Amino acid sequence: MKPIVIMGAMQQELAGLKQALQGLHTVTLGSRQVTTGTWHGHAVVLALSHIGKVAAATTATALIERFDVTEIVFTGVAGGLGAGVNVGDMVVATEFLQHDMDASPLFPQYEVPMYGRAHFPTDVRLTHSLHSAAQAILKNPAQWMDMDVLRELHVQSPQVHQGLVLSGDRFVATSAESKALLQQQPKAMAVEMEGAAVAQVCLDYGVPFAAVRTISDRADDSATTDFNRFIHEVASRYTSALMGTWLSQRTSG
Ligand code: ADE
Repeated sequence: MKPIVIMGAMQQELAGLKQALQGLHTVTLGSRQVTTGTWHGHAVVLALSHIGKVAAATTATALIERFDVTEIVFTGVAGGLGAGVNVGDMVVATEFLQHDMDASPLFPQYEVPMYGRAHFPTDVRLTHSLHSAAQAILKNPAQWMDMDVLRELHVQSPQVHQGLVLSGDRFVATSAESKALLQQQPKAMAVEMEGAAVAQVCLDYGVPFAAVRTISDRADDSATTDFNRFIHEVASRYTSALMGTWLSQRTSG
């Protein structure tokens, strides 16, 4: 059975997923340890990329070279940028852009040199399936999450969004920077630090790619506090509920 790869940047985001896998094996790829196993009848490779575009790109490349990967899904948290994209919401990416890519004046700002593009779309079918899993979770969050904890984080009625996600090697933690990003990319829903890099690698190798992120903060002046609370208190539960639901909704292994 060819494996589905699930990637995440931080241990806290993937902890619950590892517990859910059966028949665990650890494989070492360079300085990364990845876990193989099965979940809901599917062969799964779980990989911690670490933070940032280079770490994510090298991890994705090593995984594709080592395993006969059918598809890669990235999950974890992101900062909300778009109006109404609040802490506790989920954003399913339809496309990625590196907000810190700038080889101008040689190439237009944001364009990845030699690719002739700034936007890297996600796989339509995978994205659709992640969107329906996200909707299933947020239809009844109390089934998966401790609502008292969510209320403490000011999460009220979490929503699913889809659209453009920005990636860059910067934790965005001021209102000034998030406003500037949104001004430059008005369609952006969220910002994180890995997705566009994995999207680029997957385009290189022809591997279908999709990503879903839970909003941990608003990439504003309170982003650091909000991020830390979210990552320690709820991120793992969100990702396991989401990935478990997504895999259980799939028809074949
Ligand atoms: N991941 C989660 N929150 C983020 C933020 N504010 N900036 C970049 N990456 C993030």
